[in-house]
Amino acid sequence: MLANVKILRIMALCFSSVILLFVQSAAAQKFEQLGKTPQLGWNSWNTFGCNIDEKMIKDMADVMVKSGMKDAGYEYINIDDCWHGERDAKGFIQANKKQFPSGIKAVADYVHSKGLKLGIYSDAGNKTCAGRPGSRGHEYQDAIAYASWDVDYVKYDWCDTKDINPKAAYTTMRDAIRNAGRPMLFSICEWGDNKPWEWATDIGHSWRTTGDIDPCWNCEHSHGSWSSWGVLRILDKQEGLRKYAGPGHWNDMDMMEVGNGMTEAEDRSHFSLWAIMNSPLIAGNDLRGMSDNTRKILTNKEMIAINQDALGIQALKWIDDGDIEIFIKPLAKGDYAVLFLNRADSEKIYVHNWPFNEMKDDISKHEINFNKQHFNWKNVWTDATGNTYSNLTISIPAHDVVVLRLTPKK
Ligand code: GAL
Repeated sequence: MLANVKILRIMALCFSSVILLFVQSAAAQKFEQLGKTPQLGWNSWNTFGCNIDEKMIKDMADVMVKSGMKDAGYEYINIDDCWHGERDAKGFIQANKKQFPSGIKAVADYVHSKGLKLGIYSDAGNKTCAGRPGSRGHEYQDAIAYASWDVDYVKYDWCDTKDINPKAAYTTMRDAIRNAGRPMLFSICEWGDNKPWEWATDIGHSWRTTGDIDPCWNCEHSHGSWSSWGVLRILDKQEGLRKYAGPGHWNDMDMMEVGNGMTEAEDRSHFSLWAIMNSPLIAGNDLRGMSDNTRKILTNKEMIAINQDALGIQALKWIDDGDIEIFIKPLAKGDYAVLFLNRADSEKIYVHNWPFNEMKDDISKHEINFNKQHFNWKNVWTDATGNTYSNLTISIPAHDVVVLRLTPKK
């Protein structure tokens, strides 16, 4: 009899442990339905830094709708660093009362009323990069606060994290978000320092691959212990990373600098490269004052369709011809996007012999023999058309791109 009771007790214990394990593993997941294609949005940091307030954020939501960006696919309005006030007596974070007197929930309500979503920013350390309260030790409380404000997106930075294990820190925040119960896209921002592409597939929906961007073509700006980088520098740092990206987990090349001082050609290249590389497309300019050229670049629907293609295959560098590099990205239904980049400071006339150049992608297993397979193409920026039977001769201005969408000939 006593033995039976003991067996029953052991069984009950085993059963409850299994339940507990089940509950824990159910908790330990990111929200899988988010980020199936790279996220599209706007973020305050590149233009405004800490100079942000609720009126400006709401204005951006208005312009995102009026400018046609929402129609083009942009979805998130993301508040970066410096929205924070103090923690309350229980440790819950509050918005800064001067900058956000109505609170984040009111901003989220407004952004939602425009059919858009709201993103927020925190940091795995005690302090954010701008010295505001970080989430360390408050991860679950912070995620609960964001969820209660109806936030849809969390960017999580990496300042003040000496001695913290990156995988553990990002896992804790992922679990905290899951526990808070509201689907929030989780954007990892540790600048690629700890190779998140090797460990963050199940943790975040995207991870930054580099340090911060600067609005320049091929520069490095040193800030002492860290550097910020121009467009080509960030592009070159993507080498070897494409195999890690896919639906739900993207290589993030940082928020864009389109409209922030580069030439039109450079802005077009920047946007096209980020798009073909499946980077999240997060505008970083002041949308309110943007020029028509900037608006046209940011809302090029065919370029965005290449970025948002359902296969989610990041482009590969197909041909490296010195100043000219050719990227190719397999798309759904047998289409391809081909991007010719002119890195040089002068215009190039380039001749590309389609039949002469086979394409073999060992990672996505796509292959093209242009002798056997023929395509029509359309220039995504000029609407010019052609086919792949003959040589392609193109003029590419300095720092510019030519982007073609290839569709199989029937
Ligand atoms: C950096 C981050 C930037 C921006 C900034 C805010 O670490 O890479 O994108 O968020 O912090 O302080």
